[in-house]
Amino acid sequence: MRNTLVDPELLVHIPLFALMDKQELSLLAENLDYKKCIAGQTIFSLGDPGNTMYIVRSGEVELFLRDEDGERVTLEFVQPGQIFGELSLLDDEPRSASAVAVRNTEMYVVDRHDLQMLVKAHPHAALDMLTMLGKRIREANQLVRHRTAKNVNEVVEQKPLSWGERLSDTLTAMSGSIKFVYASLAWFLIWIIINSGIIPGIAAFDPYPFSFLTMVVSLEAIFLSLFVLISQNRQAERDRIRNDIEYDVNLKAEVEIRGLMKQVEDLQRLVIQHLANDDEDNLANTAE
Ligand code: CMP
Repeated sequence: MRNTLVDPELLVHIPLFALMDKQELSLLAENLDYKKCIAGQTIFSLGDPGNTMYIVRSGEVELFLRDEDGERVTLEFVQPGQIFGELSLLDDEPRSASAVAVRNTEMYVVDRHDLQMLVKAHPHAALDMLTMLGKRIREANQLVRHRTAKNVNEVVEQKPLSWGERLSDTLTAMSGSIKFVYASLAWFLIWIIINSGIIPGIAAFDPYPFSFLTMVVSLEAIFLSLFVLISQNRQAERDRIRNDIEYDVNLKAEVEIRGLMKQVEDLQRLVIQHLANDDEDNLANTAE
């Protein structure tokens, strides 16, 4: 739907336009498009060509991606007054995520010409957009960190443990505790005292040099070291999965952050270009 529906009064409440005066708002209102979506309606999908950005007037929009397993990853819920779809507008690349209306949503549609008008009138608006892009980079970092931790645990937990692996985990955890050391010491002392024949009425069953104790302890040491090795292998497997996932995620984060940085640079260039144009206009006016 076209501009006639956009009331300049309504634009005043959008933070991005807050600094514009009435005349500028009327001019912008004449140019902006207006779009309405019902709950659940797709606004655009990842990879779509896009040369417009949206400002949510009412309702709510979810921005999301699907990961390799097809799982939906929410990037952001865009609230009234906030913008989305600015990346494609700035770099003319396809949409970097999908957008769907969570509730019935009204939006203003801003094209490159509108944006140039806005930035020319108020370079400050570009700073607002830079702030928002910076916030998105931070949130993307946090999302990446959160998903890394979650995925490693999920992947490791998804692998069912055998009876032997569970036993080795339990024995390794037990034998690695200080309680086990105290219990072993107590057991050796009692065994040695009993078998030294110093307690009247109790016959030694494993006299000095305590060969039976030596054999039992050797067997215990052999089995414990095997169980520790099994547990260590599982830990190494876990570390390998963690490293693989972290490598994948870091790679994705690098690509995404590079993309966002490029948008920031594009926006900066746009502002500088407009400021330079303004300076030239001012110089020309002064010369006249
Ligand atoms: P665009 O690429 O045009 O379309 C998808 C939009 O999702 C994108 O512009 C941004 O507005 C938004 N977007 C992309 N990546 C993120 C992110 N990591 N966090 C929040 N929003 C994002």
